[in-house]
Amino acid sequence: MKKELKNTEYSLEKIFKEAKDFLPLLGTDYIEFYVGNAKQAAHFYKTAFGFQSLAYAGLETGLKDRVSYVLKQDKIRIVLTTALNSKSAIGEHVKKHGDGVKVIALWVDDAKKAYEETIKRGAKSYLKPVTESDEFGEVVKSGIFTYGETVHLFIERKNYKGDFLPGFIKWKSEYNPSSVGLKFVDHMVGNVGWGEMNTWVKWYEEVMGFVNFLSFDDKQIHTEYSALMSKVMSNGNGRIKFPLNEPAKGKKKSQIEEYLDFYESPGVQHIAIATDDIIQTVRKLRTRGIEFLSAPPKEYYTAIPSRLGEHMKIMNENIDELEELAILVDADEEGYLLQIFTKPVEDRPTLFFEIIQRMGAKGFGAGNFKALFESIEREQQNRGTL
Ligand code: FE2
Repeated sequence: MKKELKNTEYSLEKIFKEAKDFLPLLGTDYIEFYVGNAKQAAHFYKTAFGFQSLAYAGLETGLKDRVSYVLKQDKIRIVLTTALNSKSAIGEHVKKHGDGVKVIALWVDDAKKAYEETIKRGAKSYLKPVTESDEFGEVVKSGIFTYGETVHLFIERKNYKGDFLPGFIKWKSEYNPSSVGLKFVDHMVGNVGWGEMNTWVKWYEEVMGFVNFLSFDDKQIHTEYSALMSKVMSNGNGRIKFPLNEPAKGKKKSQIEEYLDFYESPGVQHIAIATDDIIQTVRKLRTRGIEFLSAPPKEYYTAIPSRLGEHMKIMNENIDELEELAILVDADEEGYLLQIFTKPVEDRPTLFFEIIQRMGAKGFGAGNFKALFESIEREQQNRGTL
């Protein structure tokens, strides 16, 4: 008889069956940040996170109002964009939110169809389908708004052979720090406002054809002081996973509430990036100045063998080394995972990164939520925002 799934586990078959995959999304195409100083942010992402220079657009390429630097590491592409004058909507975005994610671009086979299908289902338009071309071919782009001022762009690039997108030139740099082993975007988490969770779950189901395959309520995600709710949305092939968080009432202010206060709207909370050697990746990131949340108490690490049970047999990592680097471990029926969270990467306590290595487990580290949130609360305490 089939074992009943616990809430930390899910069935991919269930996702395939329930998702109405009228879009098909092929993967994350790129993530665009609106920032106060793209040139300096690009240096940070190269130096600290090991991204490489890929493409550039700005005054030299004929743009008058903005500049964009495109960086790459394995399958991940990020774009850093800054306004060049005070009238720009990009500047207004940075003024309101601080540095943050504006665009989650999704790779599709047909950007016009993706636009029409989502608009038909109630999406708010951001960009009508437009074809751009250069000597390397053509790209079709379209876009819709999601939570807050965040946008999903649909990128169709099957007829394009260039480095990034038309309008960009190759960014050649003599400064090329090595990769830290970041591979691809595993998931991206959005924080939505009070009482908005179900609206956005429904939106992803109805407009994007996603399915809600994991849910945690405030009884499961809480510490002594604060609580939150979380629901994980996935597209039909499981390549795009968007967990959503909503704050819940607790004795003190939750990290989600703190985010909403400082971002001044819903928005992207964290980007989880996969590595296949988290120990090496985290060592390199620490050496390059990336700050992580502090380690949970010693007992957390002594309890790992009993938490992992039979997965201990396949575990290659040394627990002392995980403790030294403050890496967290969680397990489900199918395996285990290793994860760690950075502190916010900008001045406002908003966006941060997660580094994750999956060894069979398909969850999101629910077993670590308590340890993680207690660590965040120590940071909030220091900021006076708990
Ligand atoms: Fe995550």
